[in-house]
Amino acid sequence: MSGVLGIAGTTSLIQTLHAGTATAGSPSAAGAQGTTATPPKSPGAPAEGAGTFTIGGDLIVNRLGFGAMRITGPGIWGEPKDPAEARRVLQRAVELGVNFIDTADAYGPEVSERLIAASLSPYPRGLIIATKGGLLRPGASQWVPDGRPEHLREACEGSLKRLKVARIDLYQFHHPDPKVPLEDSIGELARLREQGKIRHVGVSNFSTDELARARRIVPIVSVQNRYNLADRSSEDVLGVCTREGLAFIPWAPLASGSTGKLESSPALDQVAAAHGASIMQVAIAWLLARSPAMLPIPGTSSVAHLEEDLAAARLQLTAAELKLLA
Ligand SMILES: NC(=O)c1ccc[n+]([C@@H]2O[C@H](COP(=O)([O-])OP(=O)(O)OC[C@H]3O[C@@H](n4cnc5c(N)ncnc54)[C@H](OP(=O)(O)O)[C@@H]3O)[C@@H](O)[C@H]2O)c1
Repeated sequence: MSGVLGIAGTTSLIQTLHAGTATAGSPSAAGAQGTTATPPKSPGAPAEGAGTFTIGGDLIVNRLGFGAMRITGPGIWGEPKDPAEARRVLQRAVELGVNFIDTADAYGPEVSERLIAASLSPYPRGLIIATKGGLLRPGASQWVPDGRPEHLREACEGSLKRLKVARIDLYQFHHPDPKVPLEDSIGELARLREQGKIRHVGVSNFSTDELARARRIVPIVSVQNRYNLADRSSEDVLGVCTREGLAFIPWAPLASGSTGKLESSPALDQVAAAHGASIMQVAIAWLLARSPAMLPIPGTSSVAHLEEDLAAARLQLTAAELKLLA
């Protein structure tokens, strides 16, 4: 595993924390509204190394989660090529301390949610499964917004059944629908919350204006937008989340290059070499250091990649390294 920080073998790295390190989850930067982030405390399981974040004031999760979009077929369509490995990935994620898993009815569609229930239900105490509704899937690689209240209600009911839960801890509106007033879509999620089918409401692919409109209707506890080393277009949304104590869940945390895969650069290579880490791990550590509200959900279909990604929870970058990557 040369050049990759492994699951065993991270201790020396933690012990060699540099002075001036921007510690992920620094309490001084904790969010408002009673939502706080904690720094890592003698972490046991790898994901615990990232510290915790409290979503919506009552869901405490380790600040490195798992995105379950990649445990489906190509084009996020149909069954995965290796269903047994997909199940192992989910189970191993939990073994390694992941207690926040992100999915959506649209992944497969339905495949990811079913696999999660088949692999992990009955769920261990404290495991939070966040799902989403609001996108239709006419075919592989096709995603069509549907924010009609009747669709969102039906989608939520379907997710409750597939995930085998009585209430969804975090239900996220997947994407604004230009054909439906935002207030109508969010209003329906507020009703589902009142009825106890949803514990908390989150949004995805939202601008700061859309977020402000949604927050006038119901408390919004998280935003899931594309954000990574190369695409920082949601910096303003991240700023709102950090200030106001909402979780910011960056999707595509690793896909930072123009090719859709993380591309190396001299700076990234230098930082990775200094830590005996991979550039993927540096990309995750950079996110964690960026804000105490950051809750990355790297996705993979392979146990080996999962282990590599989660080991990054313990990778602490120095202020100088963060400057280099700025
Ligand atoms: N809200 C939204 O609109 C939205 C959109 C997209 C995604 N998401 C969510 O965000 C999560 C993450 O996004 P994402 O999956 O698009 O992007 P990502 O996590 O940045 O990258 C995943 C890709 O990187 C590869 N990978 C992962 N770890 C690796 C490693 N250590 N070495 C080499 N390759 C590695 C995976 O391939 P292998 O399978 O081969 O490891 C996969 O192709 C998704 O699972 C989903 O939950 C949300």
